[in-house]
Amino acid sequence: ATTLGTAAAAKNRYFGTAVAAYKLSDSVYSGILNREFTSVTPENEMKWDATEPTQGTFTFTAADTIVNRAVANGQKVRGHALAWHSQQPAWAQNLSGTALRNAMVNHVTRVATHYQGKIDSWDVVNEAFADGSSGARRDSNLQRTGNDWIEVAFRAARAADPAAKLCYNDYNTDGINAKSTAVYNMVVDFKARGVPIDCVGFQSHFNPQSPLTADYQANLQRFADLGVDVQITELDIEGSGSAQADSFAAVTRACLAVTRCTGITVWGIRDTDSWRASGTPLLFDGNGNPKQAYTAVLTAL
Ligand code: XIL
Repeated sequence: ATTLGTAAAAKNRYFGTAVAAYKLSDSVYSGILNREFTSVTPENEMKWDATEPTQGTFTFTAADTIVNRAVANGQKVRGHALAWHSQQPAWAQNLSGTALRNAMVNHVTRVATHYQGKIDSWDVVNEAFADGSSGARRDSNLQRTGNDWIEVAFRAARAADPAAKLCYNDYNTDGINAKSTAVYNMVVDFKARGVPIDCVGFQSHFNPQSPLTADYQANLQRFADLGVDVQITELDIEGSGSAQADSFAAVTRACLAVTRCTGITVWGIRDTDSWRASGTPLLFDGNGNPKQAYTAVLTAL
């Protein structure tokens, strides 16, 4: 195969990227997007601050641009993210208790309903667990509405868009550690109690402070063994040259080795598209030329 998307498709997987609506008019950007990728994730356009800037008033214009373009091109869409402590509009940041809980449920319902039938997988809840060794939930305004906020969000998403796969998504859960084990225990509990959950997303933002670890595949596999799909949702790896290429290849091989790993999404196209302020963590350079890391992924697929 000659592209990431076709090579992944031959292994029954998708290969996706985060997309920013305002970059779609850049022909280099959209050319690579059309050629290489079979799934897209709106990078910011579906977040709470973007879709409900004023309570009860929904704006889907930018996200619709990405979704309609993807559907027209036969690309899957990962919806990102329905309930999250970050990138909330100011009005939500200022709510608490029942008012915030009701606002969250309404938000999940309205956004999932708007895109009903168009989304392959939703990140229903993003980043709800604390870093470090506690295994606790992250403190947030949503968490303070009650520990059941995550399952309430999943049930609302299922009711609004029954065909979409519903994912929990987080970072620093890529290896076997206290945080990923806490997420694992939540999935065990949800499965036991019939809370709808179909997939777990592993962001996989790797850098020298949080590197790819040797237990990456084993961690994906232990989640898959619970009966959920696993997806690599926001992959980027700081570095360059052969070391970076080797890490991208290792991630790719890990996904292919886990039957229920259904796809890989990189968090941007060119190094200059990355959310990282500096560095070169993606598969294409600033001119849109494929890097060594690109070739390594294509070879591994
Ligand atoms: C990032 C975007 O890439 C940036 O453009 C934005 O300024 C901040 O958010 N985890 C997530 C993503 O789930 O939504 C984040 O995206 C990166 C970390």
